[in-house]
This record gives sequence, C-alpha cells and structure tokens, in this order.
Amino acid sequence: MKKIIITIDGPAASGKERIAKYISKKWKLNHLDSGILYRRLALIFLNNNVDTNNINQIKKKIKQIHEISFRNSKQIRTQNISKLASKIAIHNNVRRFINKLQYDFVKKNKKKQGFVIDGRDIGSIVFKNADLKLYIEVKAEIRAKRRYKQLIDSGEKSIYPKILKDIKLRDRQDKLRKNSPLVIPKGAQIIDNNDSFKNTIRQISELLENF
Ligand code: DC
Repeated sequence: MKKIIITIDGPAASGKERIAKYISKKWKLNHLDSGILYRRLALIFLNNNVDTNNINQIKKKIKQIHEISFRNSKQIRTQNISKLASKIAIHNNVRRFINKLQYDFVKKNKKKQGFVIDGRDIGSIVFKNADLKLYIEVKAEIRAKRRYKQLIDSGEKSIYPKILKDIKLRDRQDKLRKNSPLVIPKGAQIIDNNDSFKNTIRQISELLENF
C-alpha cells in the first residue's frame, strides 16, 4: 500500500476503532485514534481537579502539558471519561492543542508508512486533503446495543437505556458544537455499518481496490 492517508469519522460507538484497526492491519498503515487524545486530556483534567467549566483553567493546564500518551487503556474507556472528553472537545484551545499533536505525529512517521486516522473532524478539518475519507453511519439504537454487549461481555455492569441516553447526549454535543462539529466531510464515502462487520469491510475493500 502506498503512503496514503485515510480518515474515518463518525458518531460515538459507530465502530470506527474496529474498522480503523482492520484497515491498519490489512493495508499496513499506522493507526491514529484521535479520540484517545481527547480522552487522555480529559483524564489529566480530572486527575488535576481542573474545572472543565472554566476555560481559563483549561488554557492554563494545557500550557503545562508537554506530552500526551497515544496509548489506549481501560482507564480512559469509562462512561465518565467518554462524557468528559466530549465536553472538553467543544473548546477551540483544546482542539488546536490536539490537532498539533496529530500533525506532529503524522509528520514524524509519514516517511515510513501511511496512516488511517479516526475521530470526528479528521476528514473535515484536520486532514482535509486525505486520499480517502470515510464516514461511518449506524443508528443510535444499534450503537447502544453493541456498546451494551461489549460492556457486559467484559464483565462490567451496564444498563441499556442509560447507554442509549449517553450516546444520544454525545451525538448532540459532537454534532451541535460550534467548533469542528461532527459532519459528513466533503468528498467522504459513506459506509453503512448497521449490518455485519463483513458487510462493512466489503464496502471498504471495494474502495481500497483503487489504491
Ligand atoms: O472517538 P471517541 O469516542 O474515543 O472520542 C471521545 C470524544 O472525543 C468524542 O465524544 C468527541 C471527542 N473527539 C472529537 O471531538 N474529535 C475527534 N477527532 C475525536 C474525538
């Protein structure tokens, strides 16, 4: 595979991570999950008692951070961190800070390999000139059902109506915010992930045949 950039955007729990991991393995591309960076920052704010309703406290803390881990962990996958990440993501200062981390990371590694990057604004704002842009669509009820099963399977307590409510709240926050809202990026291919993963991969494989 050439050193291309593929972006994947879509709402919470739409399967972006699984799809990105699959693409990364099959077509030998680096995977960058931008949601991890928002989650890591939310965790830093939480651990340092930053009042996330106070933009000055947010700005001050960001200035003190020199590095953020790109590593996933169970600690950043809680419902609490999901909500907080979505909440802090409305601020331009936060988005600028995280976008720079993404640009630097891609710049540093792009000579070796291409990238598949997932998030909410990757094809619309961060990597507008990507070679291929995907937008993942799945009904909120199906996303909630899948997330519920995932939590139950991993031994966590979970209540379906609460999961659905949280997903709808994050959808509102991500789509209605003023700065870089979740939209279908210009020129994006819409991938229907309501059905089986096999069906989703078939749609993507057809698109990737052209590269
Ligand atoms: O993809 P995720 O669920 O891990 O992302 C967590 C939150 O981070 C999401 O609700 C909104 C925010 N986010 C964003 O605003 N822009 C991105 N590119 C990625 C995530």
